[in-house]
Amino acid sequence: MSRRPQLDALEPGVPPAAQTLPGEHDVCNEHLPSRLVHQMNIRAATAADAMELTALAHRAKASWGYPADWIAAWRNDLTMTADYLTSRRAFVAEHGGRPAGVVVFEEHPDHWSVEHLWIDPDLQRRGIGRLLVRHGLAAATRDRAARVHVLSDPHAEPFYLRMGAVRIGAEPAPMPGAPERVLPVLEFRLEA
Ligand SMILES: CC(C)(COP(=O)(O)OP(=O)(O)OC[C@H]1O[C@@H](n2cnc3c(N)ncnc32)[C@H](O)[C@@H]1OP(=O)(O)O)[C@@H](O)C(=O)NCCC(=O)NCCS
Repeated sequence: MSRRPQLDALEPGVPPAAQTLPGEHDVCNEHLPSRLVHQMNIRAATAADAMELTALAHRAKASWGYPADWIAAWRNDLTMTADYLTSRRAFVAEHGGRPAGVVVFEEHPDHWSVEHLWIDPDLQRRGIGRLLVRHGLAAATRDRAARVHVLSDPHAEPFYLRMGAVRIGAEPAPMPGAPERVLPVLEFRLEA
């Protein structure tokens, strides 16, 4: 299947990066290898997902090879409680009935933000991150948000840039043994 956007299928006034094309919105197999061609569903996260998604977040963060003491220090940041998930725009991508990835967007008065994006290490680089980000950007666009901010893991910056974000700054984020560590601040610009 072609991976190029079907321009006649795009919604007028919504930037292509924020749109899901037919076959991507709730179901996607376009970017999956043939052995995973059965469908990828996107659904809202529920309270019952909290423990499994928190474990997934820890596995995904660890996939960059961070030291165990850094992962332990980020425990709160990697935890998604039932209340947290159900009070935000949280979407789960399911493969074979199991969560393969999760994204959580937060709404702010003048922008949205990506607070969590975690893909199971076994399923990374197969289009699931793209699918979840597009799903959330489409929701932000429908909500008339003009911008979506991301405080990105440094390793994830190339992914967000590929998705159409631009870098607008950096925040210090020192860790033991890495006093100069910074996090890229990125922004998706959506059309009103
Ligand atoms: C970063 C992450 C969310 C990307 O999701 P993914 O499902 O692996 O990415 P996708 O397969 O959807 O990639 C979409 C595009 O980005 C590119 N891309 C993805 N990860 C990349 C990386 N680390 N470096 C460069 N390009 C990358 C892909 O090659 C693809 O490009 P294409 O359009 O040419 O095909 C995922 O790897 C992850 O969960 N990483 C660990 C946790 C993390 O850091 N999360 C982000 C916190 S801010």
